[in-house]
Amino acid sequence: MNNPNMLDPKMAPTLWTREGFGGPVAAAVRAAHTPSYLRVEGPHGPRRNILARMVPKDESSADALPTVIATSREGLRMSMSGRKEAMPFVIRNVECDEVHFVQSGSVRFETEFGELDAEAGDFVFIPRAVAYKFHPVSGGMRSLIIESPWALKVNAPFGVIMPSDIGRPTVKPNPTRDCETKLVVKTRDDLTTFVLPYDPTVLLALVIGENPVWKVNLAKIQTGSYAPVGGPPVQIITTANSEFCVFNLSSRVGLRPPPHLNADYDEFIVYAAGPGHWGACSEPGTITLVPKGVPHQGMDENVPEGYLAWLVECRPTLRWTEEGLHASELMDTSTYGPLGGAKP
Ligand SMILES: [Fe+2]
Repeated sequence: MNNPNMLDPKMAPTLWTREGFGGPVAAAVRAAHTPSYLRVEGPHGPRRNILARMVPKDESSADALPTVIATSREGLRMSMSGRKEAMPFVIRNVECDEVHFVQSGSVRFETEFGELDAEAGDFVFIPRAVAYKFHPVSGGMRSLIIESPWALKVNAPFGVIMPSDIGRPTVKPNPTRDCETKLVVKTRDDLTTFVLPYDPTVLLALVIGENPVWKVNLAKIQTGSYAPVGGPPVQIITTANSEFCVFNLSSRVGLRPPPHLNADYDEFIVYAAGPGHWGACSEPGTITLVPKGVPHQGMDENVPEGYLAWLVECRPTLRWTEEGLHASELMDTSTYGPLGGAKP
């Protein structure tokens, strides 16, 4: 990659990569800037969206579930929540592990393994079959929820996430016991409601094993760089079969990456916070989705002001739902701004 023309977008090679950052690579120089496109029709176009511009159903209806904004045939699902009131039920997802990323506001999770407060920038991990409910502690809450049919695990080199930065639930003080509770058991395609004579989020103590619910803040996760080029970002979370991988894409030292065609993974990026911008992404909560096989060029990550962002590589092909598509716009994959320039 010692091409002296790498930073000339028309002369930089376009990388074709397999298995995300871990498989075979081929690169070819072309006369054209490969991420350019004039028009696109159909569902496989690159799009961007902003969490604050979408209105999730649970914002106005306490009984509603988060609004699904993207899905895959394999069951991977992205949803958003914006609660103003507490959930009047407890939910137990029995087919997916869940990751909740709090984009804004603060949230209290009450789970079968204790109570956990989360704030902006926190990833909260709730594995399958753990019942929970949550409520906003402050206004303007927005969160993004990932449901993975495959078990998620931390897969980062030691030191990327310091053990002291992992938060665990604590036993809820002074709980109300023997409280009739609605429990919604969730599979991918249906809901089953139990009425219990007790609240499953009330526990006396965790007596065996490590608490399966935990959180970490994006700002506390280290970035990594292969000086002076930069190289791939640091992986944080993955599944055993690498169907789904989360990376820290926050600002770091390195050159702007070359144009790229990801043969196996959709690239779902969340720009979480500034003050620096990541390309044309300057509004916290901006989501960008470049489907697999679509040429693109990642933005300069060496931003002195700093920013926080994360990337999900998804082997399952994601499709926006009607709700997600509604507020989205086509995206220029050289700037990650709207296709054709900024909208008024
Ligand atoms: Fe890429």
